[in-house]
Amino acid sequence: MNAAPALALAIVISGRGSNMVAIAQACARGQLAARVALVIADRRDAGGIALARQLGLEVAVIPAREYAGRAAFEAALRDAIEASGAQLVVLAGFMRILSPQFAQHYAGRMLNIHPSLLPRFPGLHTHARVLAAREREHGASVHFVTGELDAGPVVLQARVPVLPGDTAASLSARVQQQEHIIYPRAIGYIAAGRLRWTAAGPEFDSRPLREPLVEGQCT
Ligand code: GAR
Repeated sequence: MNAAPALALAIVISGRGSNMVAIAQACARGQLAARVALVIADRRDAGGIALARQLGLEVAVIPAREYAGRAAFEAALRDAIEASGAQLVVLAGFMRILSPQFAQHYAGRMLNIHPSLLPRFPGLHTHARVLAAREREHGASVHFVTGELDAGPVVLQARVPVLPGDTAASLSARVQQQEHIIYPRAIGYIAAGRLRWTAAGPEFDSRPLREPLVEGQCT
């Protein structure tokens, strides 16, 4: 019997691209049944562009600032995704707000990773805000993207402690280490058919996913 064909991914980045690299490496190791069809950067200066090319990945640069507006940029983004044959869109440090129409088009076919334990701390500067709020725990969340910013159903989270003396940088490094584990894992669940999007929301192993899976407590 042949193995299921690899799930084709379009990974969309704005910056350093460390999550993109972690996902691409996990695919290359055969850790998940997926392949990177295309890496898209919305900025010419995204550090991840060079890393993706070093990994031999197809790269499209679609500089958002050079388009007349969000609709024109999103049309180009959608064209590139469609042309790549991607089945799942993976936002990995993509720092733009997508229109509800774009999110709707990719409903159930687009994931994001966010550096907090959603629904707590949506938006920007999460590490500094967690420190200012004197939280004892922080983390990262993988969620399906919906029209509302950082509010789609969370499927997998990793938790990290906030330690005495932490700075935003030290906390960010601890969270990112976990991001590099949970993002490939969540994509792998989709590739394996274990995590599925239904009209009623996500299902895991054929049961409604009412609470996010927690890294370290799932296989
Ligand atoms: C990641 O920590 C990701 O969670 C965050 O940006 C970083 C990108 O790092 N995403 C957001 O804040 C989305 N609002 P990377 O470019 O090295 O993957």
